[in-house]
Amino acid sequence: MSQNLLVDGHGRRIDYLRISVTDRCDFRCVYCMAEHMTFLPRARVLTLEEIYRTARLFTGRGVRKIRLTGGEPLVRQGIVGLCRRIAALPGLHELVMTTNGSRLQELAVPLAEAGVKRLNISLDSLDPEKFRAITRVGHLDDVLRGIEAARAAGFARLKINAVIMKGRNETEVADLVDFAIRNEIDISFIEEMPLGEVGRDRGESFFSSDEVRSRIAERHELLDSVEQSGGPARYQRLARHPRTRIGFISPHSHNFCSTCNRVRLTAEGRLLLCLGHENSVDLLGLLRRHPLTDAPLHAALDKALQSKPLRHEFSRDGEVQIVRFMNASGG
Ligand code: 5AD
Ligand code: SF4
Repeated sequence: MSQNLLVDGHGRRIDYLRISVTDRCDFRCVYCMAEHMTFLPRARVLTLEEIYRTARLFTGRGVRKIRLTGGEPLVRQGIVGLCRRIAALPGLHELVMTTNGSRLQELAVPLAEAGVKRLNISLDSLDPEKFRAITRVGHLDDVLRGIEAARAAGFARLKINAVIMKGRNETEVADLVDFAIRNEIDISFIEEMPLGEVGRDRGESFFSSDEVRSRIAERHELLDSVEQSGGPARYQRLARHPRTRIGFISPHSHNFCSTCNRVRLTAEGRLLLCLGHENSVDLLGLLRRHPLTDAPLHAALDKALQSKPLRHEFSRDGEVQIVRFMNASGG
């Protein structure tokens, strides 16, 4: 049985796994979902045990970082116990999570105690009405209190993720930066990616990272930074606020694929080799067909990594090329 490190067909070492633990969410963000979504039936979603087994399989092959995402990971029953078990896996350096923050008031402390090291919290607006319009159903107050709770819970680091769209929240860029500064946390600005048909033309709302950068520069002196998180974000620092890093995630304009170190597991157990391509491996089927032996799973992983694409292509006109929704893709 092969137990060596995971390396893809282009020689890239894969040491980061993102797992979508559910496709469900208590929000309906306009860039992520259609207003009326049909979610997966339970039987087609990985069980907690299957998620744990997959995490163990990957950490056994040198994966050092796991991010739990959704949908909204905190709507999954049993999530805290799952975090505790994954965090304890040998070889894992960091278990982290992306959340919309709506349930952090109750869950921040249990998550920190379970061994989750860092959180990325989505926050696209500080205006309650705009926040409601973007999330369709969310309450800004819950998320702000959730962020407070997370700050008090002692995570190593917190980061805000903001998707900026023209006509929705592009006027809030500088306010979001000031919020991050006040709270001494990081913030990343994300260009909207064309994933899934969400019922509107995305080209219309496209707002580039360069435009975001100019908005920030109106209020703050931005310093170039060579820091790299190993991911797609490019970071800059603020001359007068050393505790806040500003990240820019620009899938449209920057090709970060040459250093890609990650794969994704969808809620229905498909292993995605690249966010921008449809090819995937049905791990759920393999997990269920081989409950007692991992060898066929390792073989499937090795084979799949040979086909990991060299790079993704997202066109700028907002046309949907990928029919998957973000909530099913593992962020
Ligand atoms: N484009 C860019 N980012 C997206 N997210 C969800 N859908 C999209 C999209 N279409 C990101 C948001 C959210 C996280 C869960 O995924 O930043 O915070
Ligand atoms: Fe839910 Fe996150 Fe999608 Fe918003 S972006 S609907 S919070 S999964």
